Amino acid sequence: MKIAIGNDHAAVEMKTEIQAYLTELGHEVVNYGTDTTESCNYPEYGEKVGRAVAAGEVDCGVLICGTGVGISIAANKVKGVRAAVCSDVTTAHLVKEHNNANIIAFGARIVGIEKAKDIVKAYLDAEYQGGRHQKRIDMIHEIENR
Ligand code: RB5
Repeated sequence: MKIAIGNDHAAVEMKTEIQAYLTELGHEVVNYGTDTTESCNYPEYGEKVGRAVAAGEVDCGVLICGTGVGISIAANKVKGVRAAVCSDVTTAHLVKEHNNANIIAFGARIVGIEKAKDIVKAYLDAEYQGGRHQKRIDMIHEIENR
């Protein structure tokens, strides 16, 4: 898969490790995040990854900031984005199965690197279940059009 990754200054080290992990798994990773620990603004990176995902330039996205929250809120402002913050493996597979999340987010200050790898793997391995979930996703996107 082609995966966009984005991060702010709080998550440079974790981004680098997750990027390497995704490459190891055989994915192509496009890095939209910062590579320095100089203070920066997470909305910029959330938007970049959100736009790449919404435009179909990549299959999905991974966003990391201190908590995963700010950067995912920013990405969710892009039409067509469904970014989900996950701190555990169960949520990570359910956000794909039920919500068809096209971006997974987590916090470098919240989860350790091994948990972060498990979260990303659970998300990537899961499959969207469709069916009754599609109507609810359609309802979410109708909100964008009102
Ligand atoms: C940066 O200090 C921090 O606010 C940011 O990484 C993130 O946690 C925001 O949601």
